[in-house]
Amino acid sequence: PMTGPVSPSVVLVGPMGAGKTTVGRVLARRWGVAVRDTDADIEADAGKPVSEIFVDEGEAHFRELEKAAVAAALASHDGVLSLGGGAVLDPDTQVLLKDHAVVFLRVGLADAVKRVGLGSARPLLLGNVRGRVKQLLDERTPIYEAVARFAVETDGRTPEQVADDIEERL
Ligand code: S3P
Repeated sequence: PMTGPVSPSVVLVGPMGAGKTTVGRVLARRWGVAVRDTDADIEADAGKPVSEIFVDEGEAHFRELEKAAVAAALASHDGVLSLGGGAVLDPDTQVLLKDHAVVFLRVGLADAVKRVGLGSARPLLLGNVRGRVKQLLDERTPIYEAVARFAVETDGRTPEQVADDIEERL
């Protein structure tokens, strides 16, 4: 019987363009569980896209919403969970993640830029996708490595192949 506390079976972290949402869907389909995405939770609550929250309320406010959305999902979701790329920056979130099966989807600059698209609508990338993605990768890679139980490579690989690697190593 299902009596224990609920917890996500896997938590996907990594930069924009790593494929968190897509790989999350693949794993959830294979396992027959639900997939949840903190960006989507925030958008549903706010009734508008992340890009508009950034413009209307600013990034700091978005980070507060994100912190609450991550804590809620970690405490209540028992399927696959994908976090927004910057969710791991919050120190309290980093502490919460210690209790979970966190997987870092690693991606290099070229593939990340290819996947987000040069005309990305993501607010943090406006104007200079390549330069901003490089900066985010440089700044955040050590954090993704620190919070993750293990990392999987996504460069040149399909979501199905990445999902295979995760299943092998969980
Ligand atoms: C962000 C990543 C985005 C979204 C927001 C900020 C970031 O999520 O949360 O635009 O700071 O890296 P994805 O990683 O799902 O694109």
